[in-house]
Amino acid sequence: MSLVRSVVTGVGAYLPPKVVTNDDLAKFVDTSDEWIVERTGIRQRHQAADDQPVSDLATEAAKEALAAAGKTAADVDLIIVATTTADLTFPAVATMVQRKLGAPVGIAFDVQAVCSGFVYALSVADGFVARGHAKCALVIGAETMTRLMDWSDRGTCVLFGDGAGAVVVEAKAGEGTTADQGLQGFALRADGTKQDLLYVDGGVSTTGTVGKLRMLGNQVFKHAVVNISEAIHAAAANAGVAVADVDWFIPHQANQRILAGVAHRCGIDENKVISTVAIHANTSAASIPLALAHGIKDGRIKKGDLLLLEAMGGGLTWGACVLRL
Ligand code: ACO
Repeated sequence: MSLVRSVVTGVGAYLPPKVVTNDDLAKFVDTSDEWIVERTGIRQRHQAADDQPVSDLATEAAKEALAAAGKTAADVDLIIVATTTADLTFPAVATMVQRKLGAPVGIAFDVQAVCSGFVYALSVADGFVARGHAKCALVIGAETMTRLMDWSDRGTCVLFGDGAGAVVVEAKAGEGTTADQGLQGFALRADGTKQDLLYVDGGVSTTGTVGKLRMLGNQVFKHAVVNISEAIHAAAANAGVAVADVDWFIPHQANQRILAGVAHRCGIDENKVISTVAIHANTSAASIPLALAHGIKDGRIKKGDLLLLEAMGGGLTWGACVLRL
């Protein structure tokens, strides 16, 4: 049965040049490189310059993704940005990226699902592309998470970094089998009763301020491994593939111990897990496309590989998706 598939045809990334090591943080936070590495696997993070809004990061990643796909801004008819750190309360970052790229009038909006945002955004893009409402989409995860840090809270401020990753998603004919290139299955979840575990304590309609990130890290940790493992199995079942068939697992990069815990629980060989948490830290919605770009650039991930993406974040939200590159 032939059908239209949403195929990832280009991947791009952007990291701001400034690198902050654990030792740099230990100069003004009561922490140490040893504690951060042992508990999280994080060694460094990138930090956007004061005059670098998240739309700039997103635009740079988008340019690289378009070049990789052999497309130009003129081809783009849909832009979705997954972010929780927008330049302004409105308009959407996606419309700013559209303007900065010089893309024509089309569809552009943001998706807010915190660290799960990229997986959510991919499924939204699939809805447009597979139904013929868009032919060439940019799906971007972009964050300036360091702007949300309370630098006196050592339990959170050492965990996050800034960056952006982008993919071009194009409509292509498939046969309706798991051998097709493209997005094949999703599992998306949210549980609003867990809001207090991870949230920002400010907002437009409450405090009128931006607020700071608050997290009960060890409780989030406990939910992460169980929730993500369930979503991995559900997404694989939805796609009609076995978890063992997946070539590369590309997790949201929150904590190396979560990555290892999920791999162990799902029987995944740790050598199949792309990990960038040591060098990027937690970049929220940007972490999956950044890790995808990293795995492609170092030659591990190749065209035709079966990929499984997964994430969990504030909401709580979580999810997974299967695609063949
Ligand atoms: N340096 C030194 N000591 C620290 C630091 C630090 N940076 N942070 C906390 N500690 C201390 C605590 O004060 C505590 O000390 P105490 O025992 O004297 O009270 C001790 O270390 C243990 O604290 P825990 O919070 O229990 O440490 P844990 O092993 O759980 O690690 C961490 C904390 C890294 C936050 C972990 O719980 C984690 O990664 N959680 C999940 C985070 C996550 O996945 N978030 C989801 C995505 S984020 C998003 O959606 C925006």
